[in-house]
Amino acid sequence: MKKNKVAIVGTGMVGMSYAYSMLNQGTCEELVLIDLNKKKAEGEAIDLNHGLSFAPRKMKITAGEYSDCSDAYIVCITAGATQVEGETRLDLLHKNTKIMKSIINEIKKSGFSGILLVATNPVDIMTYVCWKLSGYEKSKVIGSGTTLDSARLRYTLGERLDVNPKDINSYVMGEHGDSQFVAWSYALSGVQPIYQIASRNNSKIDFDDLEQIEDEVRNIAYKIIECKKSTYYGIGMALTKITTAILENENSVLTVSSYLNGEYNQNDVYIAVPSIVNKDGVREVIHLALENTEKTKLNNSIRIMKENINKLDI
Ligand code: LAC
Repeated sequence: MKKNKVAIVGTGMVGMSYAYSMLNQGTCEELVLIDLNKKKAEGEAIDLNHGLSFAPRKMKITAGEYSDCSDAYIVCITAGATQVEGETRLDLLHKNTKIMKSIINEIKKSGFSGILLVATNPVDIMTYVCWKLSGYEKSKVIGSGTTLDSARLRYTLGERLDVNPKDINSYVMGEHGDSQFVAWSYALSGVQPIYQIASRNNSKIDFDDLEQIEDEVRNIAYKIIECKKSTYYGIGMALTKITTAILENENSVLTVSSYLNGEYNQNDVYIAVPSIVNKDGVREVIHLALENTEKTKLNNSIRIMKENINKLDI
C-alpha cells in the first residue's frame, strides 16, 4: 500500500473540489481520479496537472480505473446523486445506496486494504452501507460526518465573537443533516463553555443567539443550494482535513461519522461524534459528558439513522 496515494471515486464538483484542495495543500503524492465518465476524469487530471508548477509539492495525478485502488492508502467516495432544491439529504437514501453497492463491489475487487472515506449523502447512512457491504474494519471506514458543519459553526461563532475559527472547539454532532445539534457544553479553546460566555452581561453573544446559530448552521446548505445549486468547496476542504489527519498520523479530533460500539450507550450505527483520527482511521471515539438535552438530541439523531438503515436491503 502506498502511504501517500489517494483515489477519488467521483469527479463531480465535490470530488474535484477535494482534489483541487489537496493539490493546493500538497496533501498527498499520488492522486487517482475514477469516474464512470472516463473522459471527464481524464480532462480533470489534465487540467489539475497544469497547476502543478504552482503547487507546494509534486503530485502524480492521473485518471484511472478501480484497479488503481489496490495500493491506495485512502479511497474517498464522492460519487452519487446530490440534493436538488427542496430535497433533504435523506431523500437520496435509496438512489445512493444502489450506487454504493456497485462502487463497493468494484473497490473490493481491486484488493484495496486502506482507509475508506465516504462523502456521499446521506453520509452517516452511506458510511454504514459501505462498511456493511465491504466487510472492512469499522475503524477503517469513516464518513465526513459533521466535520463541515462543525467548521460552519466555528465560522459563525468566530464572526460573532471576533475569534479565529481555528480556536473554537465547539462541535456539531449527530446526523450530517436535519437532526444535527450543537454540543454547547463544549469549549472555546479552553475558555469556559460558550453558554457561560453567552450568559455574561455585554457579551458579544447572548444565550438567545445560541439556538439561532444552531439553526443557521443546520440549514445553511439549503441556502447555498438555493443560490448556486450545490455545495462543494467546504466539503472539499473538510475531506482534505480528514485526509491530512490520516496521512500525517495527526491524531486530530474531528466530528467524522464513526461506528458506535457501546459509546453513548449506542451500538451498530455510524454517527458524527468527536473522534481521534490518525493513520489507522478512527483511533477512538471520544465520549463527551453531554448535557441531558444534548443526549436526547443525539439519541434522536441515531434513531432516525437506524430507522432509515432498516429500510435498506443490504
Ligand atoms: C453540505 C453537503 C456536503 O452540507 O451535505 O454542504
